[in-house]
Amino acid sequence: MFDLSGRIALVTGAGQGVGAGVARGLASRGAAVAVNDLHEDRAKATVDAIGAAGGQAMAAAFDVGDFEAVVAGVRRVAGALRPVDVLVNNAGIPAGMGIKAFRDTTPEDWRPYVDVNLYGVMNCCRAVIDGMCERSWGRVITISSGAGTVGLSLGVSPYAAGKGGAISFMRHLALECARYGVTANTIALGLINNQSDPQATAHLARSIPVGRLGEPEDVAALVLYLASEAASWMTGQTLQLNGGNVTT
Ligand SMILES: NC(=O)c1ccc[n+]([C@@H]2O[C@H](COP(=O)([O-])OP(=O)(O)OC[C@H]3O[C@@H](n4cnc5c(N)ncnc54)[C@H](O)[C@@H]3O)[C@@H](O)[C@H]2O)c1
Repeated sequence: MFDLSGRIALVTGAGQGVGAGVARGLASRGAAVAVNDLHEDRAKATVDAIGAAGGQAMAAAFDVGDFEAVVAGVRRVAGALRPVDVLVNNAGIPAGMGIKAFRDTTPEDWRPYVDVNLYGVMNCCRAVIDGMCERSWGRVITISSGAGTVGLSLGVSPYAAGKGGAISFMRHLALECARYGVTANTIALGLINNQSDPQATAHLARSIPVGRLGEPEDVAALVLYLASEAASWMTGQTLQLNGGNVTT
């Protein structure tokens, strides 16, 4: 339904999980996909999967939290493919993410979450936004979390601070760029299945109104729409995608 032939997409943190599913989805609709990850081997595995399915992709390993590395990575993508038309800010879980009540944290605990979820998004946006505006077409899609939109007592407040910051940033980016044919939307994502054993997640699935956890393909379906021509009047929004877990 959503033809992305000729588009160049960059998906961050796409070496596994949600990002890999989104990268596969974009490639299946004809986009050439730059697969970013901190770990080159993971990025290459996604590139191989896309290639095996007949799609076009390249690995683009860099740390989204490092602005110079992001700019260099985006330049490599433009050289190998063409400039980025669709940016999916997906990287968001720092290595060793833990759960801790705010009262038990220190400023050192907060930084990785804000670095990847807020500065990572801003770095990648800054690196591609001028080109999108100059070419009068662009799509920026950020994968945030329900934790960025509602309070939870789970011990994820620094993560939520980064996720909520990105939601707010994206609204402003959307309005600054609306007249240039560039849209910017955010997905506030609910619980995704990242375990192969359904027994391990059965108790979590029961807490979701539709009765199952999300799959990367569920996220890809919404990203495909947001990346498409059909979504040119959709901008500045935060879309809850969560199997009914949070309603608005
Ligand atoms: N899994 C869930 O239940 C869930 C729920 C809500 C939101 N999300 C969001 O969805 C996105 C993807 O989640 P996931 O579960 O697929 O994550 P994941 O941890 O399975 O995969 C993320 C990938 O991002 C890479 N990465 C981490 N930091 C990076 C950096 N600084 N630069 C480049 N790459 C980096 C990792 O190496 C990893 O391969 C994240 O933004 C996450 O916050 C996930």
